[in-house]
Amino acid sequence: MKLQYLGHSAFRIVSEKGISIVIDPFLDRNPLATLKSDQLSAEYIVLTHAHGDHVGDTLSLAKKGNTTIIGVGELMSMFAEKGYKTHSLQIGGAFRFDFGRLKLVPALHGSLTHDGRYAGLAAGVVLSIDGKNIYHCGDTGIFGDMKLIGEMQPIDLLLIPIGGNYTMDADDALWAVKLVQPKLAIPMHYNTFPLIKADPHEFVGRLSKQGFNGKVMEIGEELSF
Ligand code: NI
Ligand code: MN
Repeated sequence: MKLQYLGHSAFRIVSEKGISIVIDPFLDRNPLATLKSDQLSAEYIVLTHAHGDHVGDTLSLAKKGNTTIIGVGELMSMFAEKGYKTHSLQIGGAFRFDFGRLKLVPALHGSLTHDGRYAGLAAGVVLSIDGKNIYHCGDTGIFGDMKLIGEMQPIDLLLIPIGGNYTMDADDALWAVKLVQPKLAIPMHYNTFPLIKADPHEFVGRLSKQGFNGKVMEIGEELSF
């Protein structure tokens, strides 16, 4: 399996079978993103919530009929109305797709569309692909059940926000890593806007002092697992 960081909270996962899954594709309107929606293809797009920096360029990346958009039902109904293929879940629900299992887990955050429509609950995602468990936290503050999420499915890769203001900051993310106990933590959701300025290298340094593995992924960088 390959994991590529696309900037902000956007990641692309390519399974061993070659199935491509893009999470929160904020690409064309993110000046820091090096890969734009017309340079990528995705069999699946996973959306954690309705905010513009997560739904991002779903409409240009998704190909009607070929791409399945996955997320909570209220948000998915907006894409289904436009003729896109969707798969609706709710928090705590999981489904076995051809790439592996995907489960929605809680996130403490809002989820209103840019035009003010209620889009259901914000979510985190646990993906089980090629024998690895990846927990993408979405946008969230810290919460105690992160410990339960890590106990129910031992997490290989934790993709965790550190930017503060809208989500947990690096101090809280350090606590969250202690709760989840992942094999590797990768910071996200920082430095895209002035309000979410954070030093990911300092965060990873603090992690390692506490015995945890962290890695700063450069935008565009790809890792194999
Ligand atoms: Ni948000
Ligand atoms: Mn966000």
